[in-house]
Amino acid sequence: MERNIFEERRSVKFFDKSRKIDEEVFRKIIDTAVLAPSAFNLQPWRIIAVESEEAKQRLYNAAMKQDKVLEAPIVLIVAADYEGWSESNPMWGHIAKTTTEKRLAGSMRATKRLYGADEKRQIKYAESNTGLLAMSIMLAAKYYGVDSHPMSGMDAEQVKNEFALKPSESPCMLICLGYFDQSAELSPRAKRRGFDEIVKRV
Ligand SMILES: Cc1cc2nc3c(=O)[nH]c(=O)nc-3n(C[C@H](O)[C@H](O)[C@H](O)COP(=O)(O)O)c2cc1C
Repeated sequence: MERNIFEERRSVKFFDKSRKIDEEVFRKIIDTAVLAPSAFNLQPWRIIAVESEEAKQRLYNAAMKQDKVLEAPIVLIVAADYEGWSESNPMWGHIAKTTTEKRLAGSMRATKRLYGADEKRQIKYAESNTGLLAMSIMLAAKYYGVDSHPMSGMDAEQVKNEFALKPSESPCMLICLGYFDQSAELSPRAKRRGFDEIVKRV
C-alpha cells in the first residue's frame, strides 16, 4: 500500500532515548525540507540543531521544561529572520545571476515594500515563510522514518539569548526529532475540521 506521510505524522510526545538519528538521515531530512517554497525564494530561515546534553538542558529550561526536549536526540530551533527580505540576504547574490540588474533592483524594491515596510509585515513575512519550512521538516522526517514534535511553548527571548540568535532572528518553532518510544501510548489523533467546515466556495 502507498505510504501517506500526512496520515503517519503525529506530534509524538515520547521519544526513545536510546535511538539516535543517523547522520545521513538527518542531512537528508533537512536537504529535502529546504525544497519548501518561500517568497522570492529568499529562504529567511536558519536552523540550530540542539544535540548536546548541556545545550538541551538550556533549551529545556527555556521551553517550559517540556520533557521531550531532553528525550529527543535532536531538537531544532527553526529561526525566522525578520530581515530576510533585505539586501543583507546572500540569496540575492544567487538571484542576481539569473536576472537583469533592472529586474533585480525591482525585486529588491518590491520585497522592501511588501515585507519590510513595518514590523507587522516583517513578522508575517518571516514567520509564514519559516512555518512552511517547519512543516516541510516534519513531513520529510516522516518520509525518512523519523518522528517529530513541534513546539511553540517557549520563552522566545530566552531561547534567543541562550543560543545567540541574531537581533533580527526569532525562534519560529522548536521541532523535536527522534523515534517514538514504543512503550508509551499516544492519544488518538484529535478531530480535524474538514472540507465542509473550512472551505467557502465563491
Ligand atoms: C506551532 C505549533 C506549536 C505547538 N506547540 C506545542 C507545545 O509547545 N507543546 C506541545 O506539547 N505540543 C505543541 N504542539 C503540538 C500540537 O498540540 C499538535 O500538533 C496537535 O495537538 C495535533 O496533534 P498531531 O500533530 O499529533 O496531529 C504544537 C503544534 C504546533 C503546530
